[in-house]
Amino acid sequence: MTESKPTKRLYIETAGCQMNILDSEMVVASLRRQGYELTNSAESADTILFNTCSVREHTEEKTYNHIALLRDLKRSHPEKIVGVMGCMAQKDQQLVFERAPFVDLVVGPGQLHSISGLLEKINAGAGRQMAVSLGRRDGNQDDIRRSHESFDPLRDPTMRPTPYQAYLRIQYGCDKFCTYCVVPMTRGPEQGRSPEQIYAEARQLADQGCKEIVLLGQTVNSYKYVEGSCVTRLADLLETIHEIDGICRIKFVTNYPKDMSIELLQTVRDLPKCSPYFHVPAQSGSDAVLARMKRGYTVSDYMAMMERIESTIPQAAVASDFIVGFCGETDEDFQQTLDLAERCRFKNSFIFKYSVRSGTKAAQLFPDDVPEHVKQHRNIELLELTNRIAEQENSRFIGNKVEVLVEGPSKLSLRRDDIGPMRQMTGRSRCDRIVVWEGNERQAGQLMPISIHDSNVHTLFGSVPTQQFSRDVYAMPLVANRRVDA
Ligand code: SAH
Ligand code: SF4
Ligand code: F3S
Repeated sequence: MTESKPTKRLYIETAGCQMNILDSEMVVASLRRQGYELTNSAESADTILFNTCSVREHTEEKTYNHIALLRDLKRSHPEKIVGVMGCMAQKDQQLVFERAPFVDLVVGPGQLHSISGLLEKINAGAGRQMAVSLGRRDGNQDDIRRSHESFDPLRDPTMRPTPYQAYLRIQYGCDKFCTYCVVPMTRGPEQGRSPEQIYAEARQLADQGCKEIVLLGQTVNSYKYVEGSCVTRLADLLETIHEIDGICRIKFVTNYPKDMSIELLQTVRDLPKCSPYFHVPAQSGSDAVLARMKRGYTVSDYMAMMERIESTIPQAAVASDFIVGFCGETDEDFQQTLDLAERCRFKNSFIFKYSVRSGTKAAQLFPDDVPEHVKQHRNIELLELTNRIAEQENSRFIGNKVEVLVEGPSKLSLRRDDIGPMRQMTGRSRCDRIVVWEGNERQAGQLMPISIHDSNVHTLFGSVPTQQFSRDVYAMPLVANRRVDA
């Protein structure tokens, strides 16, 4: 008789960017192979993992507070294992044990493949474990690079909010070293994954029923892989992934303004499965601030890039990030950021108050001299402007059809606990806009047209047109994907 291993229950909390969401998916996939099963509370779990982000102090403090909430649980159940993984684990290392002494495990994002082995060791009584990657100056470049490569091909569709969409990492790390940013330290050197690995993973995802692939990199459009005399760039990856049957949509985030080449834009224009959507953070509209941030472009470079996007793909939607209150930012600098946002008319913008990060150039070189209340005020002012513009841009879709990849029931429908197959459904348009309509659960995973009747800052509201058309609709140019007033 074979003895089945007892199931271990895993609870995982994920903060941060898409990279972390993908990392969590893969850690769960690998632990499932070891007999773990997901559970939705720390209380019911044997192993509790926090996948963490270090990009701002506030994010870290929130995570440490969440971890601290487990103190009593851990006291009454010392056999439960608490682990901290991700960027904060890499950045704080030993400090995690000092700030939260009951933590058993610290694992950086480049060492995630070691988690299951380390959990076994802890279970066997070996005590606390830590696995982190090398620092940017801790050895020769090859060793540093290798220490930041974690595993990728263990895909688990059940871990994704919808099995029809998946992230696919094409690049590790970052070498841009923007002066405010901790990511080049936590994620290590920029390195492209090999095209063969990327294509194999894309095919695997398509075989699992995935329809939309989002290629991930910190500066995804800087992707480059050199093998002998052969150089592969993002445009080449798009062309090959475009050929894979079953994949209907391809997106890529996040873009670096300086590397938004005309060749890449033309490729996106010419490949119907590529979304005309670019997240390409401006960060600031002041040349002086951009120079202190070491972003590597000026406002006029950024505007020239916008012009390139607009003239190549007139229907493209562009999204941005901004940091307000960066060191030395004056009222005039901030006004220039408002001006840039006004001119660019972003689909949406993420706005962050500058947060000093130890180990960065900005922390060493510039005082954090913009008072908190000024940062707060600028945050609100910029958000009001970018929201007003986003609302105007969304209203241009009213009266038009958009092609939607259906994700499933909307949050509202899940909250209402609708009974039966008729539900409020949600999906995204080709240009990444959120669309909701009254539909049917069975629509999940389909590409379908939706007629838009109303909109607000974040959402387009529509209905299924009376005359349906084919599922292969991605190849059709739909009216609302063009600038409506063009
Ligand atoms: N690699 C991506 C995003 C990295 S982090 C890119 O370069 O676009 C996501 C966003 O967090 C950044 O775009 C930036 O707007 C913000 N950010 C990064 N470091 C920050 C800091 N120290 N304080 C406030 N916001 C920060
Ligand atoms: Fe950070 Fe700049 Fe790299 Fe983005 S490009 S991850 S902001 S250093
Ligand atoms: Fe945060 Fe790390 Fe992503 S710092 S934003 S989780 S790369």
